[in-house]
Amino acid sequence: MNASPTKAPYLRLGVNIDHVATIRNARGGGHPDPVRAAHLAAEAGADGITAHLREDRRHISDEDIARLMSEIEQPLNLEMAMTDEMLEIALNHCPNACCIVPESRQELTTEGGLDAVSMGKQLKAYIVKLKNAGIKVSLFIDPDMAQIEASAGVGADIVEFHTGPYCEAVIEGDRSKVPSEIDRLGECARAAAKSGLEVHAGHGLTFDTVDVVAAMPEIVELNIGHFLIGEAIFGGLHSTIGRMRALMDNARAEANGSASA
Ligand code: PXP
Repeated sequence: MNASPTKAPYLRLGVNIDHVATIRNARGGGHPDPVRAAHLAAEAGADGITAHLREDRRHISDEDIARLMSEIEQPLNLEMAMTDEMLEIALNHCPNACCIVPESRQELTTEGGLDAVSMGKQLKAYIVKLKNAGIKVSLFIDPDMAQIEASAGVGADIVEFHTGPYCEAVIEGDRSKVPSEIDRLGECARAAAKSGLEVHAGHGLTFDTVDVVAAMPEIVELNIGHFLIGEAIFGGLHSTIGRMRALMDNARAEANGSASA
């Protein structure tokens, strides 16, 4: 049914461990340890670990990044703002991928996608430096055709679509908005894959919202954090990630026409 040029049979799960560090930092000290969470996430079915080193270091620290790089086997996706400081850190550690995100000090979390259209020139120069070091570069953008075109134009390997507006529409019970947000994500996933970009998605995903996104065949990876860490308070990290993994696998299998039992 779908005329997609790229269909991924398997959907990777990147677990974002930032908020394990948020809890640790509330008291100082070392507990709970985000690196321990990363090991557990991998055991529970995560294919990669994601961490956002913010300029204000409100959760993940420089030492966390160094330990993740030396202690975990799964690929690290380092989320970061496009600054000189972050470039130096990325080139020092050479993670598997860097996801460039917009960042402002006052925001509670990443609020919107990067504006690859207006930042084109700076992005292009920045991306080259990361790619020359063998780091894959992902841009966190809103599902928007102009942003996709600009991302391909500046040499990004990957786009990660902001799923926040879709998830918020579900939470608000906004029945008129949900289908259009889903359509927008689906159309953009097809367009991005067609232009040669690897397609990821994330932000705000939960057990209730993941299946629709997981069923989009062009999407190769989902990055999920806050819900998993919050839900782990009630269900434990291993079982929470295991359930998310199963929901993703079932949705993808159904979309591929071979639903697992
Ligand atoms: N992807 C990006 C680029 C993000 O900035 C975040 C939040 O740090 C996520 C995914 C994960 O979002 P959430 O924590 O809401 O699952």
